[in-house]
Amino acid sequence: MELFLSEQPGPEPAVLFVHGFPFDGRMWEPQVEALRGRVRLLIPDLPGFGRTPIRIRAPSIEGYASSLASLLDEMRIEEVALCGFSMGGYIALAFAALFPERLAGLILADTRVSEDSPEGKAGRTQSAARVLAEGPGFLADSMPDKLMAPPNLRTRPETVERVRRLIREQSREGVAAALLAMRDRPDRTGELPRIACPTLVLCGAEDSLSPPAEMRGMAEAIPGARFFEIPGAGHLSNLENPAEFNRLVSGFLAGG
Ligand code: MLT
Repeated sequence: MELFLSEQPGPEPAVLFVHGFPFDGRMWEPQVEALRGRVRLLIPDLPGFGRTPIRIRAPSIEGYASSLASLLDEMRIEEVALCGFSMGGYIALAFAALFPERLAGLILADTRVSEDSPEGKAGRTQSAARVLAEGPGFLADSMPDKLMAPPNLRTRPETVERVRRLIREQSREGVAAALLAMRDRPDRTGELPRIACPTLVLCGAEDSLSPPAEMRGMAEAIPGARFFEIPGAGHLSNLENPAEFNRLVSGFLAGG
């Protein structure tokens, strides 16, 4: 198997949780605790993250989506519900475009459908060069301030530390490759009306990276999609308010 996979048995359809940047499957621990035994859980580490080695020559968001499809092929799984957080959401949107027939449901959490601005792309190029030279320590230092709601930075030091640790543990090559893949991802706005599976769109109420107004617009463009803001959370809604995140995901997976 190309991807390291953490799996929990449960009823089908399986739910494939795709982590954000620069994390690995461990960012879903609060969801595993809540959903264990209730659905089949598939939680991979993307190429170059966690325990999956990097074997990418030309990193792309579509390449990550194809690696997920290959994982399902190897496991002989036809159809999944796919939950993607942030970069995982970019991958989930690419998966929806490439393999629509394999989706029983889609959960898009704290993500964006547009491409990066020219300044954003330049920043990704610089960060990729810096992470290759220095390792991901500077991201571990700077990212929590952008990822979490300001009150949580003060009141949830254990979450801040967990986030920093996860970032520090990633490989410089994997992080740099993902930065370039995100830099080069296309705008997928025109594809949203073609998403035909049940879709849930979630956003931390204080998410400044993928703001609620933008995510609401994304949900409005997907036929039948439902949108919810998660109170008391910034970008990392699944870690900052896991109770509400899990309640909404459980209800969606139960068909509610
Ligand atoms: C993430 O959480 O995956 C990142 O914020 C995505 C990004 O940098 O665009």
